[in-house]
Order: sequence, then C-alpha cells, then structure tokens
Amino acid sequence: MTTYLVTGGTGFLGRHLLERLLRRPDATVHVLVREASTGRLAALAAGMPGGERISPLVGDLSLDGLGLTAARRKRLGRVDHVVHLAALYDLTADDEANHQTNVEGTRRIVELAAALRAGCLHHVSSVAVAGEFAGFTGLAWSDVTGTRELEVGWRLAHRFWGRGLATEAAAAALAHGLTVTPRVISFTALTNERSWRLMERIGMRREREFDHPRADLGHLRRHVLYSS
Ligand SMILES: NC(=O)c1ccc[n+]([C@@H]2O[C@H](COP(=O)([O-])OP(=O)(O)OC[C@H]3O[C@@H](n4cnc5c(N)ncnc54)[C@H](OP(=O)(O)O)[C@@H]3O)[C@@H](O)[C@H]2O)c1
Repeated sequence: MTTYLVTGGTGFLGRHLLERLLRRPDATVHVLVREASTGRLAALAAGMPGGERISPLVGDLSLDGLGLTAARRKRLGRVDHVVHLAALYDLTADDEANHQTNVEGTRRIVELAAALRAGCLHHVSSVAVAGEFAGFTGLAWSDVTGTRELEVGWRLAHRFWGRGLATEAAAAALAHGLTVTPRVISFTALTNERSWRLMERIGMRREREFDHPRADLGHLRRHVLYSS
C-alpha cells in the first residue's frame, strides 16, 4: 500500500491528480480539506472509480498546526508522499491572507511532512516561488539524428554561467536518462564550445559532426553529436 497526503484535492489540478492516483490499485489518499469543502470532496470522490480510497483530513493551511487535531493527525499513520497543491490564488486577497496560506501554509506542510517522516514531499506551485528563473536542464526525445533518441539539454541565463550549475544539473539528468535507456545523446552547434566541453565534463563522448536538419540555422547549422 502506498499512502498519499494531498492538499488542494478539490482544486483544478488536484481533481486530476486524485483521479490518477486512484488508478494505482495500491493507493490510499488522504486529502487535507477545509471543513466547508468536505461536501465538494465527497462529491468528487463519489464520481471517481476507487473514490472510497479517499479520506478527508479536515484542516486549513492558514491555521496554526494546519488546524489539525491530535486525533486526526494520529489517524494518518504512515505517509509515503505528501503532494502539496493547495494555494490561495485570488488577486483580490490581501497580503496577510496570501502570506498565511501560501507562505506559512507551505511551511506548515513542510513541517508536517518532516514530522510524519514522509518519504517525499512534492510541491506544485508557480515558478515565481523559486525566485529568479536561472534556466533549465532536462531530457527530451529527439529525432535530429534520424533515429529517436533521448537527448539531454540545458539553457542557462548568462548571469548564471560559470557556477557549475549546468554541469551539476546535466549530470543528474544524464544519470536519470540512463535509467530509461542505455544511450543518451547531446548535441550543440560546433561553435558552442562551452556546451560541448560540458558534455565532456559529464563523461559524454564525441561521436561526429553533422548538419542540423533545420536549414534556417545558418552558420550554426554545423553541429557536434555526443553520446553517453
Ligand atoms: N491551474 C494551473 O494551470 C496552474 C499552472 C501553474 C501553476 N499552478 C499552481 O498549482 C497549484 C494548484 O493550482 P490549481 O489551479 O489546482 O488551484 P485551484 O483550482 O485554485 O485550487 C486551490 C486548492 O487549494 C485549496 N485551498 C485554498 N486555500 C486553502 C486553505 N487555506 N487550506 C486548505 N486548502 C486550501 C482549495 O480548496 P477549497 O476547495 O477549499 O477552495 C483548492 O483545493 C497552485 O499553487 C497554482 O499556482 C496551477
């Protein structure tokens, strides 16, 4: 049995998440829900296959201790995943209400996850909570070589260069990619030496040069292909 504690289960994303979690036959799902929304959660659960595996946990992000009684907390037992989706997204709400729900509420959820020794805390929110957007690293299926292959790639804002961020993130992405498929590729314009040096730092090997299929790349069309 895998136990999930979900916040925001009655929300737009939460409803879809609940449905998907219930497709896992071993899933038991506790949903932190405000007292006033328990009827809505019950109606949602009633309309979902496996909905009987949803149990409401009455609480409120904006209250100390999430407004949970000791008895309600105890009933939770072991929790494998805490998935925090709930948030106040109301442009008319005042600063204090936003702070209590979105900032303090999240802090309370982190504390609860720690107290429950939950295996993993997942937080779904806006990228804005992470501060300045430095860039991204990730994996994508690509057919640029004429064969469908898993590509590891990165883009980092210039001011974040030179701190090892892309190398660290790319190494982690590559390691994950290799759990999916035995061969991961990466490619960049031949002139982009910074990028292909990074590929070498994370242990990729240079295979060959090739012309990118996109003809509009002009002088950047000549590419170099690396593989794991
Ligand atoms: N929807 C999107 O396309 C999208 C895109 C990017 C990021 N996000 C982020 O993803 C998260 C979820 O978005 P969403 O669209 O699902 O939000 P939503 O539809 O507005 O749902 C918000 C959820 O939070 C719950 N909630 C609000 N205040 C609460 C409180 N004080 N205590 C407990 N629960 C409370 C609501 O419960 P009630 O039923 O009681 O109101 C509802 O279940 C948000 O952080 C949002 O910024 C969403």
